[in-house]
Amino acid sequence: METSLIILKPDAVQRGLMGRIISRFEEKGLQIVGAKLMHISQELAAKHYADHASKPFYPGLVKFMTSSPVLVLAIRGNGAVTICRNLMGATFGSKAAGGTIRGDFGVSNSFNLIHGSDSPEAAVRELGLFFTAGEVLDFARAGDAWVYDTSGGKPE
Ligand code: RTP
Ligand code: MG
Repeated sequence: METSLIILKPDAVQRGLMGRIISRFEEKGLQIVGAKLMHISQELAAKHYADHASKPFYPGLVKFMTSSPVLVLAIRGNGAVTICRNLMGATFGSKAAGGTIRGDFGVSNSFNLIHGSDSPEAAVRELGLFFTAGEVLDFARAGDAWVYDTSGGKPE
């Protein structure tokens, strides 16, 4: 099972879209294993987006991400990192396909509602930035027997 780090960005929180976005992940069959409403500090934003530090959009990105609270989620499932990225849609709201979170809920390229880890390695690094060990939980869901086909001995 993979766990991805998802951030519902300030625009998602301010626009009252948290519940509807979380529902997309739950309806897909993914499991919410961590959740935290927080105001991201300059230092944390800089660590999280370190790979983008030299990009022209970086100052605006950090300003946006630190402008208002976000909801940070740990979301788990088989292949969760890729599944989450597919549910999110393309980076720019103006280009994201209908049916995706960014495609359905926004038109802006910078206020694009959601962050998701882009690889399993990035997910491990980002989960470590936003959650302490005890904040991401391991627990069984009664319904998982109907989410995954486990007839082969492991979730398929
Ligand atoms: P994120 O990291 O937030 O999940 O978004 P992403 O992987 O889809 O896109 P990424 O390339 O990592 O860019 C991070 C955030 O920077 C803003 N951005 N602006 N103006 C631009 O060319 C530009 N490119 C990226 C977006 O807010 C993007 O989410
Ligand atoms: Mg990214």
